[in-house]
Amino acid sequence: MRVTLFGASGLLGHDLVPALSVEHVQLTALSVEDADLRDHAGVRSVIRDSRPEWILLLAAYTDVDGCESNRDLAFAVNCEGAVNVAEAAREAGSRLMFISTDYVFDGTKGSPYQVNDARSPASVYGESKARAEERLLEILPEVCIARTSWLFGHGGKCFPATILQLASTRSEISVVNDQRGSPTFTRDLASALVKLCRASARGIVHVTNSGNCTWYEFATEIARASGLPTAVKPVTTAEFPRPARRPAYSVLSPDSLHAYNIHMPEWQDAGRRYLASAPAASAAVIPSGLSS
Ligand SMILES: NC(=O)c1ccc[n+]([C@@H]2O[C@H](COP(=O)([O-])OP(=O)(O)OC[C@H]3O[C@@H](n4cnc5c(N)ncnc54)[C@H](OP(=O)(O)O)[C@@H]3O)[C@@H](O)[C@H]2O)c1
Repeated sequence: MRVTLFGASGLLGHDLVPALSVEHVQLTALSVEDADLRDHAGVRSVIRDSRPEWILLLAAYTDVDGCESNRDLAFAVNCEGAVNVAEAAREAGSRLMFISTDYVFDGTKGSPYQVNDARSPASVYGESKARAEERLLEILPEVCIARTSWLFGHGGKCFPATILQLASTRSEISVVNDQRGSPTFTRDLASALVKLCRASARGIVHVTNSGNCTWYEFATEIARASGLPTAVKPVTTAEFPRPARRPAYSVLSPDSLHAYNIHMPEWQDAGRRYLASAPAASAAVIPSGLSS
């Protein structure tokens, strides 16, 4: 299978590139230096040259708060950039998998979101991804849109890494307890995405680790599982105002993934495997921070 991947240097790319290499895929892994999504001609050229069966579009402007003050950039990369890839995919006869987000929903439903629930983004980032979904479905009816949420992994900044870092220097940390979602380990997500390509998936699929929690519950579990004595204190979103509104409840139903007979591990199990596989350098920092 020939695959071209945009977003190789990101959090998800860190695990998806090796997952595809293990599967004996002929992989062209691109970073922003190889092809900026906003450069239509450049995108067409790399797709024409690599002649992929599948294009995996991970690349995005993912700074959710930054998107609020950079609306044009958010839409240029996340929506128009995705459209550039979709048009090039159509020309080349390639399948496209677009990685999307739980933030296409405003979080007011109160029960797990199904793939056909109406989009209702509450932030510029969510709007740019929701609009991209709509445009891609028009351009490529066979597109696969894999929505995921709350990513963590070893390829970049993520919530558990921040908790570990704070917990190594503070006796108490405050974490919001009124936003609920499903943390997702990039390693588990990568493995599921490869299976979806192999299954020739199409349409919208929700791909997250199983179960759900609040950020406070996630932080508590990370501190507990890593043996850190730091107290985790629950607070409200109102106490920590941010530029972008986050959904209060953005749990994605796994039904669409189960239809492909793919089942994801529980987020607690994923968290333990994340901690056990932490790079040696950061593992060494935490105990010294605690003892000082
Ligand atoms: N992180 C989450 O919690 C989360 C949750 C739900 C969905 N998602 C979605 O999952 C996907 C992967 O997320 P991630 O966390 O891996 O993102 P990430 O770590 O921010 O990586 C984004 C990637 O996109 C590249 N990129 C940014 N602007 C670009 C441009 N104009 N042209 C080409 N490449 C560009 C970045 O390159 P540089 O590193 O060189 O800037 C980087 O490789 C995204 O589509 C995101 O919307 C993420």
